[in-house]
Amino acid sequence: MFSFNVLIVITTLAVTAYTAPSDKNADCGNGRVAADASCCLWFDVLDDLQTNFFDGGECGEEVHESLRLTFHDAIGFSLSAESQGIFGGGGADGSIMHFAEIETNFHANQGVDEIVEKQRPFAIKHGVSFGDFIQFAGAVGVSNCAGGPRLQFMAGRSNVTQPAPDLTVPEPSDSVDAILARMGDAGFSSDEVVDLLASHTVAAQDHVDPTIPGTPFDSTPGSFDPQFFVETLLQGTLFPGNGSNVGEVESPLRGELRLQSDFLLARDSRTACQWQSFVANQSRMVIRFQAAMAKLAVLGQNVDALTDCSEVIPVPSVAQSNVGTLPAGKTLQDIEVSCLTTAFPTLSADPGPATSVAPVPPS
Ligand code: HEM
Ligand SMILES: *[C@@H]1O[C@H](CO)[C@@H](O)[C@H](O)[C@H]1NC(C)=O
Ligand SMILES: *[C@@H]1O[C@H](CO)[C@@H](O)[C@H](O)[C@H]1NC(C)=O
Ligand SMILES: *[C@@H]1O[C@H](CO)[C@@H](O)[C@H](O)[C@H]1NC(C)=O
Repeated sequence: MFSFNVLIVITTLAVTAYTAPSDKNADCGNGRVAADASCCLWFDVLDDLQTNFFDGGECGEEVHESLRLTFHDAIGFSLSAESQGIFGGGGADGSIMHFAEIETNFHANQGVDEIVEKQRPFAIKHGVSFGDFIQFAGAVGVSNCAGGPRLQFMAGRSNVTQPAPDLTVPEPSDSVDAILARMGDAGFSSDEVVDLLASHTVAAQDHVDPTIPGTPFDSTPGSFDPQFFVETLLQGTLFPGNGSNVGEVESPLRGELRLQSDFLLARDSRTACQWQSFVANQSRMVIRFQAAMAKLAVLGQNVDALTDCSEVIPVPSVAQSNVGTLPAGKTLQDIEVSCLTTAFPTLSADPGPATSVAPVPPS
């Protein structure tokens, strides 16, 4: 607000005499610089999180859960409710933390209570709003994943909100129609739903099959690589745990769990080509994920009232390869090609004995 007023005054007096307002390029100490001085406090939050929350900067369980939480908070938002003058949720407003006793009891939020309670003391300690903290933790966390995105971070969400209603978060047992309708009601196209699901490349489950907590959705849950998009297209052959569960279908690899929703979205004519477009194009996957996450992170917010503090988010390591591979023991014959307009890219197969995936230690 201050810089905005300064800008108006200066441009009114003399357009050519504009100089940058004095709070720009603030020195935050320790050689760190922020475009806006109000962003400096986020460097302290960053250091605390990396050291005391993400185990020194790993892409592990806390990162995965924190990224999931950005979605479960933000998707409590409904354009159709808004147009009818009904409260359909405040979007990325921290309501899942403020009203954890309500929202974490929703079926789709199973397991989210753990990360909410782990994050809460950090948000309180640093005096930042719960809505800001949830999006910040997700952005910092996923920057730790090899080849990861550098997400935008906007600060300044209000700490005052209301509980989101139930049934805004998609379930793995939902149909593609239901998922696209719900996501569309929050403003996302079918392509953007696929873009957001790049998150499942750094993900594992605890609650779909509770007998095998820590079972990942692809063979490389510590890397932000395209393996999730390759492996979800392989023919399913086995259940990794105790048989079939609600929202689960057969996976192609021992130690890997496949959600029914991911299986269906990979094969539906509305989403299959966007899905396939990431199989051999990691940089495309990252760019599209960044754009979709920038939208998700400010759902329900007045963006003009927020400050861009993206410079605080660390620059992730560069991806080792732009192209996914076939897990050892699989061939292109095992791919259930589902995009009918673009040829499936040629992938090389990993050498060695058939890939089996080690579980991620549950938190
Ligand atoms: C189409 C909608 C989606 C469905 C049906 C879905 C479903 C699920 C389910 C069932 C789990 C396993 C939870 C557990 O058992 O512990 C999961 C994990 C996860 N989801 Fe999604 N998801 C969806 C979209 C998203 C989006 C948009 C994001 C983020 C932007 C996301 C990020 C994650 C992450 C990071 C995990 C791993 C959590 C962990 O390892 O602890 N998901 N998802
Ligand atoms: C945000 O609200 C919570 C209560 O829901 C409170 O504990 C916390 O201190 C508040 N934080 C700020 C920055 O106002
Ligand atoms: C595995 O599933 C069977 C039936 O499908 C059930 O009786 C058994 O209790 C399950 N085992 C565990 C460890 O949950
Ligand atoms: C990867 O995607 C980008 C952006 O969509 C596109 O410009 C580029 O041609 C793609 N690369 C390959 C090898 O397909």
